[in-house]
Amino acid sequence: MSERSLIVEEQAWEALEKSIIYYQGRPIGTVAARDADIAALNYDQCFLRDFISSALIFLIKGRNDIVRNFLEETLKLQPKTGQLESFKPSRGLMPASFKIGSINGREYLKADFGNHAIARVAPADACLWWIILLRAYVISTQDTALVERKDFQEGIRVSLELCLVTRFDMYPMVLVPDGASMIDRRMGLYGHPLDIQSLFYAALRASIELLTPNQENQNIIQAVHSRLDPLLKQLRENYWLDSDRLNVIYRFQVEEYGEEVLNQFNIYSDSIPFYRLAKWLPEAGGYLAGNLGPSQLDCRFFALGNLMAIISSLADEQQSHKILNLIELRWSDLIGHMPMKLCYPALEDMEWRIITGADPKNRPWSYHNGGSWPVLLWMLTAAAKKMDRGELAHHAIAIAERRLIEDHWPEYYDGPDGRLIGKEARKYQTWTIAGYLLAKELVLNPTHLKLITFET
Ligand code: GLC
Repeated sequence: MSERSLIVEEQAWEALEKSIIYYQGRPIGTVAARDADIAALNYDQCFLRDFISSALIFLIKGRNDIVRNFLEETLKLQPKTGQLESFKPSRGLMPASFKIGSINGREYLKADFGNHAIARVAPADACLWWIILLRAYVISTQDTALVERKDFQEGIRVSLELCLVTRFDMYPMVLVPDGASMIDRRMGLYGHPLDIQSLFYAALRASIELLTPNQENQNIIQAVHSRLDPLLKQLRENYWLDSDRLNVIYRFQVEEYGEEVLNQFNIYSDSIPFYRLAKWLPEAGGYLAGNLGPSQLDCRFFALGNLMAIISSLADEQQSHKILNLIELRWSDLIGHMPMKLCYPALEDMEWRIITGADPKNRPWSYHNGGSWPVLLWMLTAAAKKMDRGELAHHAIAIAERRLIEDHWPEYYDGPDGRLIGKEARKYQTWTIAGYLLAKELVLNPTHLKLITFET
């Protein structure tokens, strides 16, 4: 390892240690960011999705206590009753974040289910990440006693019930409002966004491993099994975009009625940016579209959903390679000066105005709208290593390493090529730090991939 690499890693570890939150004397999570120069807002809280990167690196380093404490304490925050009460978090919902409060000198955990968040967005990804992390914990520690506990089994069950419940929906995907994931602002992601579907698929696969086959779990296990196949089929077929698929969509019939129709979603050819895509999408590349619904196929590329699709084997072998080919062949668009773009391309002009609600934080090529997020480095590394394409990971890590330490570990970067530190980016953002450490570790010792990957 180069001397520079060593220095970057050493500083990253130091910064990660400082981000740990202690509750009643025990480590239970990490704060989102430690930036003294900008108002903390809720960045001084532990976000469930942000903690995943920290948790995985802690597991790899044998710091199991913090992950166990996190899983136990967040489980206690999850409502187990109250399905029909309004203005209360739903049964099974996991909070987006929590912080430590104190009454008469006694500490307690205060959860935010979206009831305090900007725009009051509730997280759909938190319970999915929680299940995925629980599986990683069990694989890493072999502590099956924890997952077999009644409260843990119940926690998995109620999360799944929340996702599997029949709503006003005819699809196998999970139906969520806009802003229900890492992209927690309006970005045209209402309905069936890929980022959530990839996590949903991984969480369903994880649940099969985690649920004890007994009387109490019988129905839910059955429900998971019967959802997995149609979900997989729908995602692999109807979200998939490559040259062949573009040809099919281009000539789609519309207004078809019945069970066997090809254009199930009634996608109108004119809604697809064919000429841009035909130029951009290399013959050897492909990816899963960002969202799918009635007369809607969102052709933006979303990194988290696509990378997690590779990691979870939601994408088949050929699709996984095509996604990586796309990243390799469109490197300057998707990686540029900082791995990697959260979504591509940015919404601009009228589209930005209408779809984001003219959100200035998400103006074109900034933040969620075409900004670059270093946390994605670990997912890119895991996906590339899983498919034996390690050179992509090495190359991306080398790019990140050149800047992260000098720039003080920003939350995100701006600009079409990711050259600018994000306009409102926090510095010392924990998942940037942990994501870098995790990427390095996965390259050094790919056996750790088993914590997060699923077999085909
Ligand atoms: C922002 C991000 C969200 C993240 C949070 C804390 O709200 O959009 O994904 O969890 O910051 O870092």
